[in-house]
Amino acid sequence: MSKHRIGFIGTGAVAELHQLSVDKLEHAELAGITDLNQERLSRREKEWQAKAYPDARALIESDEIDIIYILSPVEAHYEQAVQALKAGKHVLIEKPVAMTVEQIREIGRVAQEMNRICFPAHNYIYHPEMIKMKRYIEEGALGQICSAWFTFIIHHSEELASHYPGVIRQIMTHHLYTTLYLLGKPEAMSCSATKLHYQTLEREDQSVMLLEMPGGAQAVLFSSFACDDDTSSPWTYLVKVLGTQGGMNYSWRDVLYNRAIGTLGKAYPKYEELFFYESEYFINECIDKGKAPLSTLQDAAVVQHMVELAEANLGKHMISC
Ligand SMILES: NC(=O)c1ccc[n+]([C@@H]2O[C@H](COP(=O)([O-])OP(=O)(O)OC[C@H]3O[C@@H](n4cnc5c(N)ncnc54)[C@H](O)[C@@H]3O)[C@@H](O)[C@H]2O)c1
Repeated sequence: MSKHRIGFIGTGAVAELHQLSVDKLEHAELAGITDLNQERLSRREKEWQAKAYPDARALIESDEIDIIYILSPVEAHYEQAVQALKAGKHVLIEKPVAMTVEQIREIGRVAQEMNRICFPAHNYIYHPEMIKMKRYIEEGALGQICSAWFTFIIHHSEELASHYPGVIRQIMTHHLYTTLYLLGKPEAMSCSATKLHYQTLEREDQSVMLLEMPGGAQAVLFSSFACDDDTSSPWTYLVKVLGTQGGMNYSWRDVLYNRAIGTLGKAYPKYEELFFYESEYFINECIDKGKAPLSTLQDAAVVQHMVELAEANLGKHMISC
């Protein structure tokens, strides 16, 4: 079986993690890369032994590339996704998938028209422990679900944070698709946000969201770029689900290495592995076997709708989703 040939648009921090993952895949290889930053592109070309293309269009239109990974900033996703799908490529698209609900719906429409898979890179749910957590919830092993807690607490310098939108789009997006995957669609929400450590950036660096779930469970979503949690029970990235018959935790802090990768100063293997598990699922299950992603473009549209609702109603009491 010949290998699927993957092309990366964007060779920045998240591309580092994707490159390590793609390298481990049996049925796929990194065949091409492109980046607006020419210095970075030629460095990556040597490091990764992948052909460098002068721009995104050249990579997308190359008949030596079968699959496009969109790893550029969110502002570029929509145009690149539509171009790639129209060129007949399957697409993995980093989160947030696009800037608006309408853009996500249009990407979905083009994917359907072209009969191609567009896979939202909702990587946090592809870890086997998260899949197990969903199974326990669905089988009723935890009883009636009472509460769920999602935290992401990792300091981002102002320079690093300037690559991204505020934490509502950048991190709540992860918490929201994870909530959808584990517990379903919330019925109501409220959100507040603050800016603690940026001197010039005009966006929130910390936010808390409260969700009311069908059946009465409550979920608390917390995202912070303002500080780290190095206490004895760190909430760096934690998912906790509690029910009347039991509960389960999933934490990135179970294992930690002292080396920098991607955007992180320390390496959390349980974070890095997510990129492998999602690519493996995308290639082996979605492309080779025709299965749907565990979190679809429709889910991405629901998440984006909630993000937009949160931004428009900051500090207000519970509003219907
Ligand atoms: N899933 C995750 O865990 C995770 C983690 C980090 C970032 N991300 C997402 O990945 C995306 C990229 O983030 P990053 O941290 O790699 O950012 P980055 O700034 O480190 O890298 C982005 C790269 O894209 C290049 N670029 C910008 N516009 C381009 C264009 N039009 N065409 C080609 N290249 C272009 C830049 O030169 C840069 O090298 C964002 O959507 C971000 O939200 C996801």
